[in-house]
Amino acid sequence: MASQEPPLVTISDLGRHAGETVRLRGWVYNLRSSGKIAFVILRDGTGFTQVVITVGAVGDAVFEQVVGLSQESAVSVVGAVRQDSRAPGGFEISATEVEIISPSHDYPIALKEHGPEFLLDHRHLWLRTPRQVALMRLRAGLIKALRDFLDDRGFVVMDSPILTPSACEGTTTLFQTDYFGEPAYLSQSGQLYQEATAMALGRTYCFGPTFRAEKSKTRRHLTEFWMLEPEAAFVDFEENMRIQEDMVSYMVAWLLENRAEELKVLGRDTGPLRNVAAPFPRITYDEAVAFLKEKGIGIEWGDDFGAPHETAISLRFDRPVFVTHFPAAIKAFYMKPDPSRPEVVLGADLLASEGYGEIIGGGQRIDDLDLLQRRLAEHGLPEEPYRWYLDLRRYGSVPHSGFGIGIERTLTWIAGLDHLRETIPFPRMINRIYP
Ligand code: 4AD
Ligand code: MG
Repeated sequence: MASQEPPLVTISDLGRHAGETVRLRGWVYNLRSSGKIAFVILRDGTGFTQVVITVGAVGDAVFEQVVGLSQESAVSVVGAVRQDSRAPGGFEISATEVEIISPSHDYPIALKEHGPEFLLDHRHLWLRTPRQVALMRLRAGLIKALRDFLDDRGFVVMDSPILTPSACEGTTTLFQTDYFGEPAYLSQSGQLYQEATAMALGRTYCFGPTFRAEKSKTRRHLTEFWMLEPEAAFVDFEENMRIQEDMVSYMVAWLLENRAEELKVLGRDTGPLRNVAAPFPRITYDEAVAFLKEKGIGIEWGDDFGAPHETAISLRFDRPVFVTHFPAAIKAFYMKPDPSRPEVVLGADLLASEGYGEIIGGGQRIDDLDLLQRRLAEHGLPEEPYRWYLDLRRYGSVPHSGFGIGIERTLTWIAGLDHLRETIPFPRMINRIYP
């Protein structure tokens, strides 16, 4: 009687196949053997599971090959799925067939501790390890939750260009390139274009890579990072913050519910994340400066915050906190001055809790043409490349606001990491463009 080909399943799906015989394909993560029995930890991208292989079940020749398998060899396995609460993932496979698809020789990442530079040099392989897989799944979930939130609230995704003729966030971090003989810049932020699309569709957002030639080596700066930037017509400074706190609360709740397994692999204490619910506290820049001085953390009114300042402010609260009304002089040219106090702007940074610091920058935009022209001049920016942007203030200008949330900074906080380099598949930093 011809035996039927067993169904091809993934490790994440084993729960639906208990007691059946199935085929799995993947890579050898680890192997140990003694005498006539071998235990392979197989990974297939969806999970890790133990495969038990005996001489009795597969024969001498195959068993000998199995015992010689090295880390990351690719294999195809047929076996019975057995429920076993002690096994990783809760199931175990008793193999009856093992086929070697492709060997792997001298795999450079051993199952021991390696230094961060070594791992980053081997990022293309490092991504295969359980922690990195969990982080990448968490990243994908975080992006999904943010986008679902916006999609469900009438925000239309509108891609901003990457090649641009002008700066959005200051000229010191611009990556310049040659555009057929003219200078062009990699986008630092899609915001200015979202202001145009918000006037066309009401509420829009872009999600894409943004580029900043950050010349310092820190735990929170990449030169290429991903940002999600909503922009909305007729939304003021206050409503803009309400959208942010609702969005961040939604995202955290979604991840706690749907990525619990990944958070566990990362060893994240989820207790503090459970406090993350709107409304978030708000303090003004003035209050923040007074608090920092009282704490003996050096700062003068008018200085921008560095990491130690943000950490100290963040640790005062059990959930993210908005810092509002920064001095206009330290913020971007487009920020709307507070009408009652024009030396500060209607802008806010959202600082993540547990000392993590800024994950969102945003605020209300200048909607007055004359003022915007003055601000461009004060920032030493030429008007010509911003002609289209100024048009938005000529033809039915309305109050509008928006913000940008950095994916890697946010994931660093959610995952409880102390450096953002592991939060993106292939990090780009001042000293690293390989692999
Ligand atoms: O505060 P930023 O510079 O704001 C803007 O770019 C606005 N145009 C956004 C807007 O209103 N549409 O950057 C926003 C966020 C930061 O809070 C941070 O999370 C992230 O982008 N970010 C970085 N992440 C990693 N590496 C860097 N070098 C980053 N610079 C900013
Ligand atoms: Mg900022």
